[in-house]
Amino acid sequence: MRQPIIAGNWKMYKTVQESVDFVRQLLPRIEPFGSVERVVCPTFLAVYPVAEALRGTALKVGAQNVAAVKEGAYTSQVSPAMLQGVVEYVIIGHSEARKFLHETDAEINAKIKAALEYGLKPILAVGESLEQNQAGETQAFVSGQVRAALQGISAEQMANIVIAYEPIWAIGTGKNASGEVANAIISGAVRATVAELYGSAVAGALRIQYGGSVKPDNMAEYMSQPDIDGALVGGASLKVDDFTRLVEAAAQAKGA
Ligand code: 13P
Repeated sequence: MRQPIIAGNWKMYKTVQESVDFVRQLLPRIEPFGSVERVVCPTFLAVYPVAEALRGTALKVGAQNVAAVKEGAYTSQVSPAMLQGVVEYVIIGHSEARKFLHETDAEINAKIKAALEYGLKPILAVGESLEQNQAGETQAFVSGQVRAALQGISAEQMANIVIAYEPIWAIGTGKNASGEVANAIISGAVRATVAELYGSAVAGALRIQYGGSVKPDNMAEYMSQPDIDGALVGGASLKVDDFTRLVEAAAQAKGA
């Protein structure tokens, strides 16, 4: 069985102090739900103090991005060598990074390779725009993003990758995809593409999250779908009560 994974993407929210206070409050609340893997992704500034506060606990830490090379003259960037030993996960290819930082599929592919080289586990984010969705291009586009991001990645390395399907039109809008629609894309465009590339065993073991306006009230709808293994959550991951309810719903829905 694939272990459910709930990751909070805090985006550009929370100071260092707020981040550390948050995880200290969250930790005892989510303790009963050990069957669900739980991850918080603070800003780069807060990643280290949060990781220190969580050392030895079951709440894991992820970064929100990573550079594709070990070091160099790349003002503003943080390398995988710097994140090694501090975080376990790193979000790569988030639509906000694709949009605001103009990240291309080739760069995302290079970042995934670099992250894996330094022992970090990528959470690869993919998803179509509203225009693509309305034009009926979702399956082809998402499948293409998956293929491009995974170029040159081995079947063994796939065990350390999580993919998050996040339709751009659902992010921060309150217009979430229904559980059935999300499951159809995750199954038909993400898992099916991975099956084509690596075979059904690798595809069957891959954990795939849904992201986009996930809230405590709709979490069960996603988690009851056969191909959805968790969620990548923005807004609702910023509140201790909501984060706790997301994890609880995941544990219940997967019978864990
Ligand atoms: P929201 O949950 O705020 O819609 O954000 C989703 C997201 O972008 C997570 O990476």
